[in-house]
Amino acid sequence: MDISSAVSIADLESMARRRLPKVIFDYLYGGAEDEITLSANLDAFKQWQFKPRLVTGHVSRNLSVDLFGDRLSLPFLIGPTGLNGLHWKGADLALAQAAKQAQTVHTVSTASTNSLEDIAKVSSGPKWFQLYPWGDRAVVGRLIDRAKAAGYTVMMVTVDSLVAGKRERDARNKFSHEVHLTPRVIWDGITHPDWLIKTWFAGGGMPRIENVAEFVGPGSNASQLAEFTRSQRNAGLNWDDIAWMKDRWGGPFLVKGIACAEDVPLAKKAGADGVVVSNHGGRQLDGAPATLDVLQEVVQASGDNFPVLIDGGFRRGSDIIKALALGAKAILLGRATLYGLAAGGEPGVAKALSILQSELDRSLALLGCESVQALNSSWVRRVAK
Ligand SMILES: Cc1cc2nc3c(=O)[nH]c(=O)nc-3n(C[C@H](O)[C@H](O)[C@H](O)COP(=O)(O)O)c2cc1C
Repeated sequence: MDISSAVSIADLESMARRRLPKVIFDYLYGGAEDEITLSANLDAFKQWQFKPRLVTGHVSRNLSVDLFGDRLSLPFLIGPTGLNGLHWKGADLALAQAAKQAQTVHTVSTASTNSLEDIAKVSSGPKWFQLYPWGDRAVVGRLIDRAKAAGYTVMMVTVDSLVAGKRERDARNKFSHEVHLTPRVIWDGITHPDWLIKTWFAGGGMPRIENVAEFVGPGSNASQLAEFTRSQRNAGLNWDDIAWMKDRWGGPFLVKGIACAEDVPLAKKAGADGVVVSNHGGRQLDGAPATLDVLQEVVQASGDNFPVLIDGGFRRGSDIIKALALGAKAILLGRATLYGLAAGGEPGVAKALSILQSELDRSLALLGCESVQALNSSWVRRVAK
C-alpha cells in the first residue's frame, strides 16, 4: 500500500479494508447489533457548525495540552485497543513508536499483543495503561503492579465492557478473541496475501494476549490466553472495586466508558482523577448515545480540575475541535490510528496522526482561534433542527 497517497483517515480506512481479510476488518470496523451507536458517534459531529472569527492576526496555533503534569504536543492520544497484532506484526510497538515521534501518548490495552513491559521499553514520555476491571483481584492487582514497575504514569479502567457486546459481524465470522479457521476464513486469508505473509505467518499465527500469559503459563497458546481473558469478565463490578484499583495504583486514574452526568460523582467518590466519555466505539451497548451528545452534561457535572476526555468516531481534525470546544480536555483515537496501522504499520500510524494534526491546525487557523486552550462553546453552534 502506498501510505503516502492517503490524504484522509477515510483513505487509510479504504486501504485497511483492502489489505485485511474480511474477518479481521469486520472486527476492527464493526459495532454491536444494528450499529446504531457506531453510526451515531460519527453523525454527531454533523450536528455542530463552527463560528469562525476572521482576521485575527494569529500567525500560528498552539496545539499542546497539559495532562496530569505532562505537556503533550497534541490534544489527541492513541486510545487503548486490544488484539492489535491481528492488523500488523509488532503492532503495539509500532503504535508506541509513532506516538513517541508525534510527542503524544499511546494507551496500552490490557489485551495488547505485545507485553506492557516490552511496549514501555520503546515509548518515552508519559505512559498510559488501560485496565480491564476483572473479577480476580489477584490478577488485577498484579497487572497494576506490573504497570507501575514498568513506568506507566496514568491508569484508565474501562467500565463499559463488563459483559461482551453482541458484535454480529464477529459472530457470523466465528471470531471471538481468536480466529477460527473455517474454510471461508482460510479463503479470506489466502486472498489477502500481503496480510497473510507479513502479519499472520510472520507473526506466528493468531497473536497472543501477552499480558495474561503469566497467569496461564508461559508456553500457553493464543487460544488458551483468549479463553482466560473471556473468563475474567466481572458483570458484578461495583464502585468499591474501582476504589480498590485506584488505591492499589496510587497515581492519576481515569474511568473510561462514562455516558451520563450521574456517574461522574460516583467516579469521583471512588477516587478517579478524570473520566473518558466513551461507548467503546459503538461496540458494546447498541442504543447508547453518541459520545459527543453527552459530553457537555458530563463536563458540567465534572467541574474544574477533573479532566473529561472523549472518544468515539473521531476521523477529522474538525471533529477534535468540536469536542474541545464542548469541554473535552483531550481526545482518544481508536479506529483512526488502527486504520493507519492496518494499512501500513508504523508509517501508517504516523500518517494518521499527521493527517489529524494538519487538519486540526488548518481548521483552527480558518476558525481564527490561536490555541486549543482558547476553544470553548462560543466557537460552535448546534445546527437548527
Ligand atoms: C478493534 C478495537 C479494539 C478495542 N479494544 C479495546 C480495549 O482493549 N480496551 C478498551 O478500553 N477499549 C477498546 N476499544 C475501544 C477504544 O478504546 C475506543 O473507545 C473506541 O475505539 C473509540 O471509537 P472510534 O474507534 O470510533 O474512534 C477497542 C476498539 C476497537 C475498534
